[in-house]
Amino acid sequence: MKEKIMAKKTDSLYAKRTDGRTFDELRPLKAKVGIVPSADGSAMFETGGTRAIAVVRGPRTLHPQHMQNPRTGILRVNYGMMPFSVWERIRPGPSRRSEEISKVSEWALSSVIDLSGFPNTVVDVFIQIPQADAGTRVAGLNAAAMALAHAGIPMKEMISAIACGKMDKTLVVDVNKDEEDFSEGEGATDIPMAFTSRTKNLALLQLDGKISPEELKRAIEMGKKACEEILKVQIKALKEVKGEENE
Ligand code: CDP
Repeated sequence: MKEKIMAKKTDSLYAKRTDGRTFDELRPLKAKVGIVPSADGSAMFETGGTRAIAVVRGPRTLHPQHMQNPRTGILRVNYGMMPFSVWERIRPGPSRRSEEISKVSEWALSSVIDLSGFPNTVVDVFIQIPQADAGTRVAGLNAAAMALAHAGIPMKEMISAIACGKMDKTLVVDVNKDEEDFSEGEGATDIPMAFTSRTKNLALLQLDGKISPEELKRAIEMGKKACEEILKVQIKALKEVKGEENE
């Protein structure tokens, strides 16, 4: 049985990760809550060379008035990469990509927050990427979930997110940019996903590339395990800020 697994691994043209990690190993993680004192909530999440910051403003009365919902507050997410976050300057302002990431992040986060106690209001989440080495939407989600908790927004559960990938036939967690650009054999498949902390529901699942249903199931299981590690880092950072703010 063991021999069979080994044989399967060496079949793939991606037999060793470019940065030396094992296939299920995350990049070094860092998280800090309360990084922007003027905000209602804020947080930073970092995995390797990818860093995301998230700032929460609200709940505050939504204008224009015709957009208000008298039954609940609404969530608005704005994602953007800073011009200096990658080697080639990013043009400031919205793009199709940033609009898509803002929307999917909004849907994922909306599934865990409860704004029914704040009718006619909006909660704004601003996600900025000062440094990008792939996986920015999932790093952004990790930061945003912490920032929402820090702002005291009622949450049914936390959200932890990770991008898994398939390089040729090899499944990996926490894909970096080199891996995302892998082009040999079956090439690269990128699978960002987010899990809720208690019910372990998928709050986000996207797929860019080709993968079999069986491999996708395995990738989701790998991602679920990785999200447990991320959740611990998020909770630790939230506890740390509570201690600091109570001092
Ligand atoms: O960042 P994420 O993996 O969620 O989204 P992506 O659209 O798959 O982008 C992958 C990576 O490509 C980003 O994290 C950046 O490192 C890089 N990128 C870039 O160099 N220039 C862009 N305009 C967009 C992305």
